[in-house]
Amino acid sequence: MRPLLILLFALTTSALKAQPQANYDETKVPKFSVPDPLTTFGGETITDSLQWEEKRKLEIYQFFEKQIYGKVPALLDEYSFKVIEQDNNALDGKAQRKQIAVGLKKNDRSLNFNILLYLPIGNENAPVFLGYNFHGNHTVTDDPNVIITDVWNENSKDLQITDNKATETSRGLRTNRWAIDKMLDNGYGLATVYYGEIDPDKNDFSDGLHSLFYDEGQTKPKTNEWGSIAAWAFGLSRAMDYLENDTNISNVIVFGHSRLGKAALWAGATDPRFAGVISNNSGCGGAALSKRKYGETIGDINNSFPHWFSESFKKYSNREETLPVDQHQLLALIAPRPLYVASAIEDEWADPLGEFISAQYASKVYELYGKKGITLTDTHEVDHPILGTMAYHMRSGKHDVLEYDWDQYITWAETFAK
Ligand code: GCU
Repeated sequence: MRPLLILLFALTTSALKAQPQANYDETKVPKFSVPDPLTTFGGETITDSLQWEEKRKLEIYQFFEKQIYGKVPALLDEYSFKVIEQDNNALDGKAQRKQIAVGLKKNDRSLNFNILLYLPIGNENAPVFLGYNFHGNHTVTDDPNVIITDVWNENSKDLQITDNKATETSRGLRTNRWAIDKMLDNGYGLATVYYGEIDPDKNDFSDGLHSLFYDEGQTKPKTNEWGSIAAWAFGLSRAMDYLENDTNISNVIVFGHSRLGKAALWAGATDPRFAGVISNNSGCGGAALSKRKYGETIGDINNSFPHWFSESFKKYSNREETLPVDQHQLLALIAPRPLYVASAIEDEWADPLGEFISAQYASKVYELYGKKGITLTDTHEVDHPILGTMAYHMRSGKHDVLEYDWDQYITWAETFAK
């Protein structure tokens, strides 16, 4: 090749590879003001919980609903539950296992998903953690009787999933993220669902829950309607419809990691039946403040995952300063119910400090109810959890769910869930 051509070739390939560089430098965080949870869009000051609920909470909720996660377009026509499998002597006699098929119907179209439920033997009225898993219910346990999902699954080396299909090979490969024995030993149950059964996680709106609601000829949700996160949140509420009627369950704490932590937060904000909410490393579009533009930004997330949020959220890509809200107000929507925000110090992409500050700014609303929030003087010392009605920890290590995280969640849940 001639030198000019070589230069041109080098320039084009580097331009193709050029990704906007994420900012990991605290000194480059833009100056921004955090929208005050207690001042309405019209400038009115909120001084008590009644005013919060009647004025401010509603307008914040509607903003998140229309401009960020997107609205659920309509009610379902029908839903049904069927216990399709049960064993009262599961996991070496520690648990009762139930697998429940949930059927959702709209416009003569239907979607089914399975809840895997373990309840501790000896606690007839157990609190339950409800959380989605990433690759199928059979991945969270070695239990040979857990049904393998047959819907589309993201290929994964770690999970040994190829051809977008889960098989026996992936059974038990994610037990490390689910401290099931610990939950059971402490009198807690676990309910889990494979999130792909609600909406396969790909930029394709032809399948999953969205497609049930389409009018003739419609192929994707309307501009202000739901993306996948809102659909996953809706699915958690449908699981709750079953769980709240199971007489062996007292309370349900909704949990989620990462993208599923974003879904858990939105589920907590939209559905007051969840007694507590846990966001584990939820990052951008979850607990982290967007206006800091540290790690993943709105532009990054909308580019990489165009199907997660409502179409209307795209107008805030690279324009965070124009957003009249920020994610601390999503946290505030959960008040006064217990809320746990958990970060990991090496999880820079999720902006762990931004998650902490966000919890601090949400506190004002918890305080209106006389509840203990994360105060502005609290610190995010690594591996020193703060366990109040609002709880927080900055774990050492990476983006993941570890035994350490569950130790804290269970200790915290003891204060309100039993
Ligand atoms: C990506 C994405 C994050 C998300 C994470 C996950 O890293 O950018 O927003 O939280 O995936 O779900 O694991």
